[in-house]
This record gives sequence, structure tokens and C-alpha cells, in this order.
Amino acid sequence: MKIIHSVSELIIFRNSLDPAVKVALVPTMGALHSGHLALLTEAKEKADFVIISIFVNPLQFGQNEDLNKYPRTLEADLELCKSVNVDLVFIPNPEEIYPESQENITKIIPREKVANYLCGKTRPNHFSGVLTIVLKLFNLSLPHLAYFGEKDFQQLTLIRLMVKDLNLNIQIMPISIIRSDSGLALSSRNKYLNSDELIKASQIYSTLIKTAQNIKKGMQINNALEFARGSLTKEGFTIDYLEARSENDLEIINNTNLINLPFRLFIAVYFGANKTRLIDNLKVI
Ligand code: PAF
Repeated sequence: MKIIHSVSELIIFRNSLDPAVKVALVPTMGALHSGHLALLTEAKEKADFVIISIFVNPLQFGQNEDLNKYPRTLEADLELCKSVNVDLVFIPNPEEIYPESQENITKIIPREKVANYLCGKTRPNHFSGVLTIVLKLFNLSLPHLAYFGEKDFQQLTLIRLMVKDLNLNIQIMPISIIRSDSGLALSSRNKYLNSDELIKASQIYSTLIKTAQNIKKGMQINNALEFARGSLTKEGFTIDYLEARSENDLEIINNTNLINLPFRLFIAVYFGANKTRLIDNLKVI
């Protein structure tokens, strides 16, 4: 397994690969878990050469967010990469990626209609930071395929739209959410929760399931969402959002526009002693 830290070395190495080699990229911020493992395993199946990037991207963190305490577990990450025969690990430091400071850089503006709701409302420049680093990683590793998890569904949607809008020749490969036995969606941020909180946090998923069932049984969407917000709040969760939105363009869904539209429930909460931000989503139809 090759490990590269510098941008220039990655460019030289990528150019040395035979053009017939099918390359997949799995962009990550490290603290790898079984969700990342699923991305890597799929990538290994579909591509000849798998690159993973491990980079905690400062550009996508707001001022009062967890950039400094974001879990960094490089040794364990490298073990996990080896276990699935990843071909190349790209681990740049911020100076390598943003040599003139992250303020002084051309940035991608995500589609506003999709970026300004859900996570984008609470984290205003987050998706601009995500798309900027993702485009840079695409340009450096020139992948044919790029893998992203459906847990970050809004991120996945915005990346798909960037690929379409900017005519990038890359196939975006979504992977379903991987959950712990209790149902909690796997996330690097779960490391902030203690063992009791980890058990309790599974109520996010069980509430999504119950809400989807209520909607399918005929309950008005807004009432079902309000009921779910109330019960999670009673259990100690602080709701950032719980909404029903279409899968294609994340348009809000209510009982008036619910005709044959595949849609999902989207949730973000703050939970536990560390006020950890947890997100999840569930397909309803
Ligand atoms: O989903 C993530 O881990 C990050 O947002 C990504 C896509 C690696 C960009 O930093």
C-alpha cells in the first residue's frame, strides 16, 4: 500500500498509471469505521486501483465547530486500509492543500436551492468547503469512480449536482448507510458519545422508522414530524431539523405535493454531554 503526503507526488504518481487502469477515489476525513469499510470494499470490487484520501478539511468547519477535536486515528485507519488492500492512501496536511491559507482560495458555490436548507442552514459555508476539497481531490486523483455514503445525503446530492453542472467525467457511487446493531448510523462523531449515550442515540433511527410508518399509514406528514420532534425532545435530543424532502432535489415534501415522489426523512440533532451533532436519514417511498 502506497502512502503519499504531497500534492506534487500524487500528481506524478497518478500520471504514471496506465490510462486503462480504472481508478476509484474514496474521500474521507479519517477516523474510519465500518461505513468507510463498505465504501472501500465496493470500490475494490468495481475498480482496478483504489485511492483513499484522509484529510480533515478545515474549509468545511465553521468557527465554533469541532475541527480541533475531530477524531484523528491515523494508525488504525492505515490498518483498516491495509485489510481491504487499498492501493494508495493520500494524507496531505492543510498547508499542502491550501498553501496560501484557506481564506485566499477559489471556492465552489454549491447549488443554492439545495445547499441552503438542512445542514446548510446551521452550517452556512460547510458545503462550499466540501465541494471545494472534493473538486481538488478529483483533480488530483483523476478518478473514474468516486464513492460517498448516503448518510451525508445532502452532501452526496450536492456533489452529484457539481459533477453534472461542471461536466466532470466522474461516476458518483452512493453507498447505503451502515448502522450499528442498535440502528445508530455509523459516524466518526459517534466517538464523542459515552456508552449510555450510544445506546440512547439509537432512538434517532427508531423514531425515523416510526415516523415513516405513521406517514405510510396515512398520518399527515407535518403531524408525524411534529410528533417525532416532540418525543425526541422529551428524550433529551435537541432537534436542529427533522424534515421530509424529495430524494432528487431535496424539495420539501408535504401532503400537497406528495405525488409519486421518492422522498426521505432527514434529521440532525445535538445530543449528549458533548452536544454532538448527529445526522441520519431514511427513505420513506
Ligand atoms: O464526508 C466526508 O467525510 C467529507 O465531507 C469529505 C467528503 C471527505 C470532504 O472532506
